[in-house]
Order: sequence, then C-alpha cells, then structure tokens
Amino acid sequence: MLSFDFSEEQLALRETVSRFAREVISPRAIQLDETDEFPHDIVKQMGGLGLLGLPIPEEYGGVGADFISYISAIEEISYASAALGVMLAVHTSVGSFPILYFGTDEQKQAYLPRLASGEWIGAFALTEPSAGSDAGGIRTRAVKQGDEYILNGEKIFITNAREANLFCVFAVTDPTKGKRGVSAFLVERDTPGFTIGPTEKKMGLHGSSTCALTFNDAHIPAASLLGQEGEGFRIAMQLLDGGRIGIAAQAQGIARSALDLTARYVQDRQQFGRPLAQLQAVQMLLADMATRVEAAHWLIYHAAKLKDAGKPCGKEASMAKLFASDGAMSVTTDAVQLHGGYGYIREYHVERLMRDAKVTQIYEGTNQIQRVVIARQLLKETLK
Ligand code: CAA
Repeated sequence: MLSFDFSEEQLALRETVSRFAREVISPRAIQLDETDEFPHDIVKQMGGLGLLGLPIPEEYGGVGADFISYISAIEEISYASAALGVMLAVHTSVGSFPILYFGTDEQKQAYLPRLASGEWIGAFALTEPSAGSDAGGIRTRAVKQGDEYILNGEKIFITNAREANLFCVFAVTDPTKGKRGVSAFLVERDTPGFTIGPTEKKMGLHGSSTCALTFNDAHIPAASLLGQEGEGFRIAMQLLDGGRIGIAAQAQGIARSALDLTARYVQDRQQFGRPLAQLQAVQMLLADMATRVEAAHWLIYHAAKLKDAGKPCGKEASMAKLFASDGAMSVTTDAVQLHGGYGYIREYHVERLMRDAKVTQIYEGTNQIQRVVIARQLLKETLK
C-alpha cells in the first residue's frame, strides 16, 4: 500500500527498512512481548543501518534523509514491533531533534554524532505526576547557581528511560512567569542526584521501557541549557508537532500489520463450507479497516510533506495522530474479532497489536488534546 507519491529514493529507503523489519524484527516480536526485554542486538543493527540518525545531517554522523523517509522508517519498524517503533520515534523526534533545532554548536558536536550512530539513546522528560495533558503545569525546578543549574523534581512515563544516555528535561526556571518560565535542559544519565526508577509494567509495547525520573539536587552545567531560559514550553510544543507525526506512523504500522494478518486469515479460515472472506459481513469489516488505513496514510504523509517543506504542520500532525491512532485501535479490535477465538491467543499476533495500539491514543498528547490543538488552529485560520 504505497499510494503517496514517494520519490525513488524514499521508496528505496522504505523498502530497505521494511525488509530489515520483516527479516530481523518480526521473528522476535512474540519473544519481545513476552520477555519485555530491550533487544540491544537489534537496536545495534538499527544503528549500523543508520536508522537511529536518519534525519540527522551527515555532518553530525546522520544519514541526512528527509522527514518523509524517517516517518516511513517508523511505520515499517512498527509494522514488525511497535515497541521498537516508539523507541526510534522518541529517540529521534524528541530525543535528537531538540539538539538539532535548538542546540548550540558545542551541544550539536557533543551529542548528535553519538545519538545518530545509536551509541547513545535519547529520551524526553516533560510529563510529571501533576502535569500530563496540562504540560505547562510542570513543577520540576531548575535554579541557577554560578555556572550550574540545580534540578529538583519528578518526571513520569518517560519512554526509553531505562536505556537512554541523554534526556531532554523541562523545568521551571522562573515560577512567576507561568509557561514562559519553563526552560529545557540536556541531562546526561550519570548526573549525580539524577535517578531512574523501576521499569513500569505496561499493557503493551513490551520491550520499550517506561520509567519515572527523580532529580534530587542534580547539578548540571549551565551550558546544558537548551535554547534560552523561558523558551522551554515553546520548544516542547514545537518538538511535539513533529513527534506526533511519528506516533501516527507508529499507529499506522500497527494497523497495517493487523489488516494484512486478517486479510490472509479470512481467506484461509473455512466456516459454513467456504472461506470467511466470502461472507459479506466479513468483507464489510475488512473494507472499513482498509479505508481507515488508506485515509490515515494520506494524513500522515501530507503532514510529513509539510514538515519537509518547513511549513507549519501542527494542526495536520494532530489530525494524523488522532486519526491514525483511533484507526489503529479500531482496526486491531476488528482484527481480533475476525480472528475469533484465535485472535485472543498470543501466537496469532493480533491481540498484541490491539494492546500496542491503545497507547497511541494516549501518549504525545491524548487524542482529546489533539482535538484541542486542531480546533484552536482551525479557529485561528477561520475569519469571523
Ligand atoms: N509551536 C510553538 N509554540 C507553541 C505551540 C506550537 N505548536 N503551541 C503552543 N505554543 C506557544 C503558544 O504560542 C503560547 O505562546 P505565548 O506564551 O508566547 O503566547 C504558549 O506556547 C502557550 O500556549 P497555549 O496557551 O496554547 O498552552 P496551553 O497551556 O493551552 O497548552 C496544550 C496547550 C496543547 C494543551 C499543551 O499543553 C499540550 O500539548 N499538552 C499535551 C502534552 C503532551 O503532548 N505531552 C506528551 C508527553 S511526551 C510523550 O508522550 C512521549 C512518549 O512517551 C511517546
């Protein structure tokens, strides 16, 4: 299913990632789900292929691919493993892009080559126990003392935390200024006073780690400030605009996987003396699943194309994330239904896909928040 007008280069990259995902990751998908272990060997191979630095310029050790190619890679990796899909999406969109977009030359030189090669994994620390959807309500404090900042506070639900070496952390530098008092920092894993909590046990995405972080008088160099003091909230929002296209692509990989498995299964499975695929009731469901997947495809690559062109894409990114993740939940649920009893058994994959799909409606902004972003932008664009 490749309806979007991809260039030959984009198609070649997509094909390479797809082959890697099917040959190397797919055979391990059930094992990853059951053990919840981070597949260091696969991630090393992804690094070797350049996948961990796809959209990072060559001068910083990346591949220099465009955003569309990067989004295709997330989709193809997620087709095989949504856990590795989110690892890649968070590492790049909100773990590496902060430095590429907002970093100083020194920060770029120090961190991008290590992130792009996969030697280091990146993470993004915004959410707190009392600040999820209301991201502007964070309380983690950063107080400047001489040539250091001292961080105190707690972050939760941090993807990649168990493996990450570098965290983009948001903290309040001026509590009198509300969202304009938030700043962004680059915090290395071995910073004294910074601890990573135990790995959460999740419904799905096994193999991708999620942990809480604690900052207890963590001293970081003043040079670790990203951008200017007070720019943190805007930085987070801008990063999430791109990040949400990545999550949409992750959801799309999950949905396509469920659709392909189901389209094969219903041709195989005989009931009432013929394959399920010949029953119109089954065809209705399949047609709806395929239509959702096709429509999500266009929303995702339209948003990615805008981003490649340097145009505003916040509304389109939210639309893609909303539609693709709701689609993934619906398609995977129908996939389980069409598989009948087998759909509830792990060996048939679709129950895992259904569990993995759920969080795509929640993270990088719940789908309710996506609607807020879409409506606000729509109202701004519409003349009274
Ligand atoms: N780009 C640039 N600037 C932006 C922006 C954007 N997309 N969106 C907002 N801003 C700016 C505004 O212009 C405004 O600037 P001024 O102060 O100069 O006027 C400022 O930011 C505040 O904006 P709002 O008043 O719109 O802020 P708000 O409090 O109403 O919040 C929100 C907006 C959309 C609800 C936001 O809080 C939000 O996105 N919440 C969801 C948080 C989220 O997505 N968390 C994800 C965590 S990361 C994750 O999930 C990763 C993972 O594990 C997979």
